Amino acid sequence: MLNAGFLVPIVIVSPAFESHAVRLTLFGGNYPEVKMSKINPEQYGVNTCAVRAGQLRSPEGEHSELIFASSSFVFANAAEAAARFSGDSPGNIYSRFTNPTVRTFEERLAAMEGGERCIGTASGMSAILSTCLALLRSGDHIVSSRSIFGTTVSLFDNILTKFGIATTFVALTDYAGWEQAIRPQTRLLFLETPSNPLMEIADIARLAELARRHNCLLVVDNCFCTPVLQQPLKLGADIIIHSATKYLDGQGRCVGGAVIGSEALLGEDIFGFLRTAGPSMSPFNAWVFLKGLETLHVRMRAHCENAMQIAGWLEQQRGVTRVFYPGLQSHPQHELASTQQQGYGGIVSFEVPGGKPTAWQVIDATNVFSITANLGDTKSTITHPATTTHHRLTDIQRAESGITDGLIRLSVGLEDVDDLKRDLLAGLTGLVA
Ligand SMILES: Cc1ncc(COP(=O)(O)O)c(C=O)c1O
Repeated sequence: MLNAGFLVPIVIVSPAFESHAVRLTLFGGNYPEVKMSKINPEQYGVNTCAVRAGQLRSPEGEHSELIFASSSFVFANAAEAAARFSGDSPGNIYSRFTNPTVRTFEERLAAMEGGERCIGTASGMSAILSTCLALLRSGDHIVSSRSIFGTTVSLFDNILTKFGIATTFVALTDYAGWEQAIRPQTRLLFLETPSNPLMEIADIARLAELARRHNCLLVVDNCFCTPVLQQPLKLGADIIIHSATKYLDGQGRCVGGAVIGSEALLGEDIFGFLRTAGPSMSPFNAWVFLKGLETLHVRMRAHCENAMQIAGWLEQQRGVTRVFYPGLQSHPQHELASTQQQGYGGIVSFEVPGGKPTAWQVIDATNVFSITANLGDTKSTITHPATTTHHRLTDIQRAESGITDGLIRLSVGLEDVDDLKRDLLAGLTGLVA
């Protein structure tokens, strides 16, 4: 149910509406004839794209985007239906394939990332799954950073293996290790940078060059930075993955994901997979995400500022043995982060002595932080990766990834920083590093 006083425009599309709908020519043109590739990417800044790109405006003249809550779309006659299904006539058929609200989200995010095409998906994991199943076949091989989201490791290790797709895991910043792991069957290199939860930074341009030399595609999960802080396609990556569940929404409301890249890579294979297999984004979620995109740049700056303050403060605390944040001079890839990113992000991890009991003690002593696995929210969250997000990894995999039992991950939100410090201090007081 929608709250009273919260005006949300919902329309059921009709043929008349469709024929009169005007896409803002400034940013889109009429879907699907005009692709994002036809827009000069240098013409508008990322913030303008975040607020404006892709908007479809109906004859009603609404200022905010509509939610097209319609599973199917109506044709003027049987001949038009046939033409839509054959692809001779562009337009919507069914919301598993395309939906105008989802399309607006896709065009907006594509513009922000500097990509030709974006495909919205039901979750971040389905964005990764769709990419792999669309582009790979039995016998193919992935080289992946081992410092990735635990469920992605499980997907590669436990599910893709059933379909004959093998993965070799390497250390994110061991560039010789990446090259050595590449086989003739390798098709994808996969990474997150910054990594989850240790905030290691990979040199995207260097790995893109490696991928090109070996005829592989470089896939970057850009969830932690978002296009506001990092645009991997401009550094040579081929495909970007997002869990829209995180910063793109920004207020912990919906689960969704996205794949961004060239029309050639996404158009046939990944879109083809999605419309057949069905992990499509819902129009309501797309609307929440595109509203989230409008404030993303403001929120990311605030997340970065608060996280920087918390990270610097944590380094001074007696009960803390190590702080992982790329904005700190002590971070091994601080220089790379400073050139590759336009900010250091909102995630800070730190280690306490004494392993799990101490980490849990610190977590349980907090009052403002939410104990939850999600991140990228205006509300700060605190997580024990070893027993939550990364619990499915074997002890060896966790040790190789550097995820100790004393590690705590913070997603620093937009509360007053002094309140967050006081909250952490409750559990840290008395610990001796
Ligand atoms: C870096 C990263 N990628 C992908 C995912 C998966 O996204 P979702 O939960 O939307 O499926 C997550 C989820 O936490 C994540 O942190």
